[in-house]
Amino acid sequence: MPGWAEQDPRDWWRAASLAVRKALQISGLSGDSIAAVGFSGQMHGAVLLDEHDEVIRPALIWCDQRTEAQSKELERSIGLDRLIQLTCNPPLTNFTLTKLLWVREHEPKNWQRVHKVMLPKDYVRLRLTGESAIDVADASGTLMLDVTHRTWSGEVLNKTGIDIKLLPKLFESQDICGKLSESGAKATGLRAGIPVVAGAGDQAAGAVGMGITRAGVVSATIGTSGVVFAATDRPSLDPKGRLHTFCHAIPGRWHVMGVTQAAGLSLRWFRDRFGAGSDDGRDPYERLAAEAATVPPGSEGAFWAPYLMGERTPHLDPLARAAFVGLSASHTRAHMIRAILEGVTYSLRDTFTIFDEIHVPVERIRLGGGGARSPLWQQIQADAYAHEVEILKAEEGAAYGAAILAGVGSGSWKSVDEACDATVRVAKKVGPGKVGAATMQRGYQTYRRIYPALHSIFEENPSSSAH
Ligand code: XUL
Repeated sequence: MPGWAEQDPRDWWRAASLAVRKALQISGLSGDSIAAVGFSGQMHGAVLLDEHDEVIRPALIWCDQRTEAQSKELERSIGLDRLIQLTCNPPLTNFTLTKLLWVREHEPKNWQRVHKVMLPKDYVRLRLTGESAIDVADASGTLMLDVTHRTWSGEVLNKTGIDIKLLPKLFESQDICGKLSESGAKATGLRAGIPVVAGAGDQAAGAVGMGITRAGVVSATIGTSGVVFAATDRPSLDPKGRLHTFCHAIPGRWHVMGVTQAAGLSLRWFRDRFGAGSDDGRDPYERLAAEAATVPPGSEGAFWAPYLMGERTPHLDPLARAAFVGLSASHTRAHMIRAILEGVTYSLRDTFTIFDEIHVPVERIRLGGGGARSPLWQQIQADAYAHEVEILKAEEGAAYGAAILAGVGSGSWKSVDEACDATVRVAKKVGPGKVGAATMQRGYQTYRRIYPALHSIFEENPSSSAH
């Protein structure tokens, strides 16, 4: 169905156990030498289990967009302002609660069997330890957490009729919440009894892996989705609800982030639909970047609005759709590829604009994900943000962050701050180019007018949303 996105949690478990075995094999380490396990994973998904911990139906995952009606209903029944007061966030189709309400409404038989509700990584934890646990950072993306007080929101649960007994126990990310079970050890090759810490969703763990722990240091990560993320000392709210305000994976800290739904996905879409050019042995994304690099900054007037899967920041619009704008007969494939890189970056820049409005400080910007790997995309980001960007030595932000959290939980470091100071290293800095930055600043002002100009078209043509 258009806008639906589901995955089978059992595939995650199979993949995770295989990945641990392979990691041990490739690194030449024995399972006995691993001291603790950390966790990270995709956020917001709804995993539904019956009384025997069997999966009832495929999980509705983070980018599933079918719950517009449930989001609207939450807004009507609880009130937008009250929801933001209680959970620090507005109801969005991405958030777990809307997915639970959809299943309850559309699949009552399945709902009757629900005994446990989990987020994706927590299902893997359950299989590894037998424990039903979650960290406050990932729980923030459910719309059921009182983000300010770091506990489940009794009021939201009461008003929506969700029984707290369905939900996992809450922990701080670095807390030990279980031990590896015999069956978990058998599946992975790790040692039974080693401590397992709560961990965090991909964004908060990724931020830890990139050293985004204190106010002023901000990350811009381009994976499938794109995220601009800042750590804060207290919950920092965008009154218009365009940013997510969540608990950080560090006790007593929060974070604020803006999300572009189809960031790296825009480029993958182009590659899958139109190819990456003739195979010369290089990685397809390198070939696409080389093609884009033949075109000057600004793509000679071609723009990409990256709303392939609706949008969160800044438009909060599941019906938004992507568009190439400004094409003329002289534009080529290379222009379109560069326009995609620039359009995705402009979309991340929108979050920096909101950070400015609500006074979130930005002193250093660190790049993560696929967007940090390409020298061209690094430069486009420095130009579009009009700010120096830093590239880190360790690329795998979320896995690295999960390992840091496991290290803190098991006593290798006293705190996440201490661990990040000891392990996160800047490898390279890229400054804005004179010409590129000026062109991109002008381009950004034009880009900002594209969504308002097209909005009524998306609204009138919701059937065009199939993907
Ligand atoms: C963040 C978000 C993504 C997903 C997929 O709100 O939706 O980080 O977890 O990566």
